[in-house]
Amino acid sequence: MIPHIILSGDDNATPIQVIEKAAFSVWLEEQSELVQNWISAQGFEEKAGKTITLPNEKGEMASVVFILSEDGWNIWSLADLPKTLPVGSYVLEAALDAEEATAVTIGWSLGTYQFDRYKSSDKEFAKLVLPAGADADEAARQVHAINLARDLINIPAGDMGPKSLEAAVSQIAGEFEARQMNVVGNDLLTYHYPMVHAVGRASAEAPRLIDMVWGDSSHPKVTIVGKGVCFDTGGLDLKPSSAMLLMKKDMGGAANALALAYMIMDANLPVRLRLLIPAVENAVSGNAYRPGDVLTSRSGKTVEIGNTDAEGRLVMADAITAADEEEPDLLIDMATLTGAARVAVGAEISATFTDDDELYALIEKHAKAEKDPVWRLPLWDEYRSLIDSKVADINNSGNSPFAGAITAGLFLKEFVEKSKSWVHFDIMAYNNRDRAGRPVGGEAFAIRALYSAIKEKYS
Ligand code: BES
Ligand code: ZN
Ligand code: ZN
Repeated sequence: MIPHIILSGDDNATPIQVIEKAAFSVWLEEQSELVQNWISAQGFEEKAGKTITLPNEKGEMASVVFILSEDGWNIWSLADLPKTLPVGSYVLEAALDAEEATAVTIGWSLGTYQFDRYKSSDKEFAKLVLPAGADADEAARQVHAINLARDLINIPAGDMGPKSLEAAVSQIAGEFEARQMNVVGNDLLTYHYPMVHAVGRASAEAPRLIDMVWGDSSHPKVTIVGKGVCFDTGGLDLKPSSAMLLMKKDMGGAANALALAYMIMDANLPVRLRLLIPAVENAVSGNAYRPGDVLTSRSGKTVEIGNTDAEGRLVMADAITAADEEEPDLLIDMATLTGAARVAVGAEISATFTDDDELYALIEKHAKAEKDPVWRLPLWDEYRSLIDSKVADINNSGNSPFAGAITAGLFLKEFVEKSKSWVHFDIMAYNNRDRAGRPVGGEAFAIRALYSAIKEKYS
């Protein structure tokens, strides 16, 4: 099942004729007077991505004309159409290669996402007959994963605390017979996740470390760590209300990590996968961790708390240490880690950090092909001194107003020792504005690029 995609043909579907922008005027000259008059009466401009519906002699809708950009097809090419075309079914009349056909199918379906958990909607969308050559299984997999990430992020923190996040992982783990271990509450101290405990202990809902393992143990180890801060009040360094408003999305790294894990497992990629999610609420209470506290991390490094709002790197550090202990071939971490990353690259690009040039080249190539944009920022070692501490091995915030995304990346790097390759994504996990196929709200970031890169690297 792919939402709003018709898998077996529909004879009544309205054809979508595709015309390249440059070929439009020639095409128009060949049309009947009726069609020419109709198009001119509508004031239609042949801009890439635009559509116009054409009538037959009886005034019924005969077809839709779609103007294709010079850049050709990509996932978002048709993604606005399910919303803008009259409700009904459509069939694409164009020769797409298999990858393009799959991509536009995914985009069309993603354009019909609605978060309707708390409010039913009578909005209807146009449907598309699966384009010839499209890989329906691949499209279903990616749409399902992305909508899963969107849902998890959109569900407010009151209904998506650490326990519910754990349940969301269990559901997926069950589907693929993955093993899952959850270290909850005071067990975090026994099993040495002290910083996950410190950050999460002030919440009414127990903090936890979710640890899922899947696949053949002889395959290369790929481990994904996702920041699961189910709500970030800032802690005692309380966020102002405007900054706190959207902090249900602070588990967006975890949602994306789970969605990526879903794609890898569903595609049965030949890797031994591990998913680690520190799931906590950064809350305010009498037992909250404090500015000035010194924590001893799982790795043994001591951390001075410069700011309780820099909680993400603390919980991520313990999870990254656990990941690193088994020397994975590839360690990926995803986190809504800093506001500074948004200042640097905006809300729509995944800030990406790695010391592995070859890995970055691979990810960048797939990011471009998948229209899932990443931009590399440097792990600039000379900035490490910005997070020096007088009393501990490192400070979780430092006092420079500059390079906040880089110092957060450098903080995490301190906990990566044995992994063959490590890449860190500082993501928004949210659409602030509507774009084709990407409604306002929770969003998948970098995982289509990563899935495709992992597929190339390991199969
Ligand atoms: N969850 C936030 C980062 C964030 C804010 C991501 C807004 C996306 C949008 C994180 O825990 C945080 O508060 N970081 C602080 C770090 C600072 C105190 C060193 C930040 O970015 O201001
Ligand atoms: Zn914070
Ligand atoms: Zn946070």
